[in-house]
Amino acid sequence: MSKFLIRGGNRLSGSVKVDGAKNAVLPILAASILASEGTSVIEDVPWLTDVETISEVIIALGAEVRRESETVLHVDSRNVKEWIAKESLVRRMRASFLVMGPLLARMGRARVALPGGCAIGARPVDQHIKGFQALGAEVEVGRGHVEARVKGNRLKGTRIYLDIQSVGATQNIMMAAALAEGRTIIENAAKEPEIVDLANYLNAMGASVRGAGTDVIRIDGVESLRGANHTVIPDRIQAGTFLIASAMTGGDVYVEGAISNHLKPVIAKLKEAGIQIEEDVNGIRAIGGPGNRPLDVKTLPYPGFPTDMQAQMMALLTVLPGNSLVTESVFENRFMHVAELQRMGADIKIEGRTALITGVPYLTGASVTASDLRAGAALVIAGLGAQGETEVNGLHHIDRGYLKLEDKLRTIGADIVRVE
Ligand code: UD1
Repeated sequence: MSKFLIRGGNRLSGSVKVDGAKNAVLPILAASILASEGTSVIEDVPWLTDVETISEVIIALGAEVRRESETVLHVDSRNVKEWIAKESLVRRMRASFLVMGPLLARMGRARVALPGGCAIGARPVDQHIKGFQALGAEVEVGRGHVEARVKGNRLKGTRIYLDIQSVGATQNIMMAAALAEGRTIIENAAKEPEIVDLANYLNAMGASVRGAGTDVIRIDGVESLRGANHTVIPDRIQAGTFLIASAMTGGDVYVEGAISNHLKPVIAKLKEAGIQIEEDVNGIRAIGGPGNRPLDVKTLPYPGFPTDMQAQMMALLTVLPGNSLVTESVFENRFMHVAELQRMGADIKIEGRTALITGVPYLTGASVTASDLRAGAALVIAGLGAQGETEVNGLHHIDRGYLKLEDKLRTIGADIVRVE
């Protein structure tokens, strides 16, 4: 098992470049199987384990995926014939469920294993299923999978109101509706930048998706889609992680490629804590830290504070003076990092979905374990700021979403190594 060894206390400084967004690539690769003609060229693809998994899922369905270079993928899905997604792969990663909508639309039927529970909550797929049913599919749930079949020739456009602004359900329904007959309107849709990126790719494939990025998305179905070229948006969560890492060490880091519009709530909170932030068209710079004022942070769907930044922000709050509050309102069980931060000397109390963090002067190095991807990032941030040596275990979680994190952090001055 590999782990990170981090010697805390180095002030981070310099420039670090952000990769393409994992959470944009996963739905885009799922959507690529909608193309019955032509091939897709997807650029700025970070070759993360989650990206490998979704590639394996679509390869098992009959797509050809070729890596032209480190960050460019070619996808040819003309020969997709299979309608059952490989269960072992789907169980490995919840986002594999995103092939359900495209498969159903392209093949007329689809079977995908239920993603099941995971470390950060129950995460059901009821809104996805409600969408497929509204589009005219017969859906059966049982024996560990969801099976859907189109009644008649094609899915039929309709109006769908989502009870929850689910990112995955919005994406799955958009992809299915792209090949449906007539117009689909998704109300109370999620508004994340990754949804806009998916809509842009679908439109490049010949779809007609309007309104992505607002809570009403209109999709006029077309008969077929073709492969298209697309460049993935920068990863706002990775960018935010570097900004907070800089703040934790009192550093001066420029995150090249970060889009400030995608990071408004994170930037606002860092400024509120007393970090100097400079934004330009090419990136964002964070100067100073860790900050001198406590914060009140509540996670919400976009454009609110992202749940995927909650753990990293909490790591910073552990050393801000006074009492900070963090309320997790997107997932019901996303405080797994708290026990690990406590091992490093953090003063945190949890009451339901809220954590009360009382700042301590400094954290101390300890042996800690990542329970999920963003919890892992939080522990790395904590280790960078802590006194002494921190050992972070559970790197397979971190590798799902951060490409060579230790190399990137070393280029801006961190003392971090991976040991096997
Ligand atoms: C996506 C992101 C994930 C992020 C999350 C919220 C990807 C690959 N993953 O996950 O990193 O943390 O958005 O920003 O993009 N829910 C239901 N029923 C459903 C679907 C969701 O109750 O049918 C609930 C979930 O349990 C959760 C909330 O809605 O409490 C938000 O989930 P959702 O937006 O769907 O997250 P994902 O798309 O799985």
